[in-house]
Amino acid sequence: MTYLLHIDSSAVPDRSVSRDVAATFLTAWQKEHPDASVVHRDLAAAPLPHLTADGVIGRITGPDDRTDGQAAAIALQNTLIEEFLGADAYLFTVPMYNRSVPSVFKAWIDQVFVNGRVLFAVPDQVPTRGRRAVAVTSRGGGYGPGTPHEGHDHVVPYLTTVLGGSLGLDLEFVVPELTMAHRSPAMAALRPKADASLAQAHEEAERLARQL
Ligand SMILES: Cc1cc2nc3c(=O)[nH]c(=O)nc-3n(C[C@H](O)[C@H](O)[C@H](O)COP(=O)(O)O)c2cc1C
Repeated sequence: MTYLLHIDSSAVPDRSVSRDVAATFLTAWQKEHPDASVVHRDLAAAPLPHLTADGVIGRITGPDDRTDGQAAAIALQNTLIEEFLGADAYLFTVPMYNRSVPSVFKAWIDQVFVNGRVLFAVPDQVPTRGRRAVAVTSRGGGYGPGTPHEGHDHVVPYLTTVLGGSLGLDLEFVVPELTMAHRSPAMAALRPKADASLAQAHEEAERLARQL
């Protein structure tokens, strides 16, 4: 194994459910792979710039013809792509923000998903195809079948499409729900369910870490 790439995106450094569940995963994973290393990118602590015209036009401009701005934008993309392609397994933490992924995570995707490097029309050419990945996606509410918010989760379907579909990752989800229940009086009745979901998420993280 080369390394596990661990990408965090919760804005909150402490008392973050997704980071806590990821810590459980990593403790178990490191027991299984004592000699393997982890590369950690914290997108909240060190946010990436949004993709700009320089980043887009630089991709279709030869190295000798790029402006300084385009060269700098492509250099950043190359650093991120090399870090991404150099891993052979992934741990993503992607909490739900406004029904979707945090903007810092979307910025990472926009920088890394480059045709001919990461994305390929022919699935067999996708370099990350078949690599194992775990995504921890915490959310304040509940989105399961029969709940009022059923169908409003745009995190799991999106990650399934881009990480599982476009990148071909062998992707598993860990989904702690109702994380706001202990802070919101309106959700007091849901606290036992929140506790059960959190306990299940830690168990699931440990189980997946032993398998990965
Ligand atoms: C900016 C922001 C937007 C949020 N939007 C949603 C939302 O649309 N639906 C939801 O269920 N929870 C939402 N939440 C709650 C978070 O998903 C929840 O607190 C989760 O535990 C965050 O992950 P973390 O604990 O790892 O930081 C939001 C939280 C923040 C800070």
